[in-house]
Amino acid sequence: MPRKLAAGNWKMNGLRASLEELKTLEKRHDDASVDILICPPATLISACKDMLFDIGGQDCHSATSGAHTGDISADMLADAGASHVLTGHSERRTDHGEDDATIAAKSLAAYAADLTAVICIGETLEERENGSTLAVIDTQLAGSVPDAATAQNTVIAYEPVWAIGTGKVPTLDQIGEVHAHIRQRLTDRFSDGGAMRILYGGSVKGSNAADIFAVPDVDGALVGGASLKADDFSPIIAALEKA
Ligand code: 13P
Repeated sequence: MPRKLAAGNWKMNGLRASLEELKTLEKRHDDASVDILICPPATLISACKDMLFDIGGQDCHSATSGAHTGDISADMLADAGASHVLTGHSERRTDHGEDDATIAAKSLAAYAADLTAVICIGETLEERENGSTLAVIDTQLAGSVPDAATAQNTVIAYEPVWAIGTGKVPTLDQIGEVHAHIRQRLTDRFSDGGAMRILYGGSVKGSNAADIFAVPDVDGALVGGASLKADDFSPIIAALEKA
């Protein structure tokens, strides 16, 4: 089985002074038994490249280079020191109108640059309430995960949109249902789908991490707010190590 993964998505947060948090985290977890990935803003990637953690971008363009002002290619992320990139985060889907085809193209660009794509999927509150969660997951998996995905180049992150930054977390049964469903779809489609890591994301904290990590097919977490401070992220890493 692949190692579990504790991933932090800093979103549009973090200045150079914030690197102190990572140095603290590094001292506390220098012999971690789980993988640790930090996705800082792109401006901090090169400053993080020598750290013990894996470093990821939060988005990439589907093209390698060209006239796309303000965008960053997967090659550029790799050149700056990243080994991973998030694709299809719900904030990209909402703020930038990214659809599944765009996300698949970005994930392919990530593979071409030897980056692991952390492909994010998840339903909105409306979709949860009208009972279409698993159908939405199916559409997103089919449309945003390329056929070339493997357990090495891809991590799936299940992030219910309504749980992101809200303090609301699905019940453990709800998390278990979606993760089991994703696992089934991955094993149906990919020969190594059983080894592809599936992260849960959405209001993960030190106080709920152990319960979430005990759910079958939860291979780690994608953490937003609680990844910004070493004191908040550290208990989540510790809980994953014990899971
Ligand atoms: P929060 O942990 O702040 O809810 O964010 C989750 C997330 O969107 C990580 O990508």
